[in-house]
Amino acid sequence: MDVFECIQRRYSYRGPYINTPVPRENLEKIIKAGLSAPSGCNKQTTSFVGLDDHKILNSVTDLIKKNGFGGNTPPAGICVLTQQIPGYSNVYFNIQDYAAAIENMLLAITALGYASCWIEGQITENVETQKHIAEILNIPVEYMVVGFLPVGIPEKEGKRPSYKLASERAWYNVFGVP
Ligand SMILES: Cc1cc2nc3c(=O)[nH]c(=O)nc-3n(C[C@H](O)[C@H](O)[C@H](O)COP(=O)(O)O)c2cc1C
Repeated sequence: MDVFECIQRRYSYRGPYINTPVPRENLEKIIKAGLSAPSGCNKQTTSFVGLDDHKILNSVTDLIKKNGFGGNTPPAGICVLTQQIPGYSNVYFNIQDYAAAIENMLLAITALGYASCWIEGQITENVETQKHIAEILNIPVEYMVVGFLPVGIPEKEGKRPSYKLASERAWYNVFGVP
């Protein structure tokens, strides 16, 4: 699968996962894709906790499920952490940094034949959820939990969203000119 096909194949899967474990080497490949993302001023503000221990995964996804997470406990997942380190003076790029890392990982997950979903709103909308996940994973206070990516083989095909037409969002040379 080339990168263009991978980009088109990626979508947010919110259904159940089959019970096949994700080999650690695949989890490492996905995390390496996250580690390789660009970051503002190369501050590398994003960190990752790979999860493949069922008990720990269960505790984490239980907290997220309460907020409406649709799937069962996936066989693996990645918790995304950010540190508020300035790029320069008082300019921060850590949000952009972790967004780039998450997209890299979602593409790696897709390329390996797994499904996932960028779970962020369901974590950051409730500071208690963030705190509880941090406690479970023993995360130091300087790091903020901002995302969770389930990883696994989907039990069924999920629903793909519709996108606005390219002509409504992208133009050439001059705004509004198709
Ligand atoms: C910053 C951000 C936060 C998101 N948070 C959640 C979330 O908490 N739960 C969820 O189910 N999807 C979440 N998503 C996924 C979006 O809903 C999804 O990307 C969007 O509906 C487009 O669908 P697609 O990913 O299938 O293209 C988030 C996506 C982004 C970029």
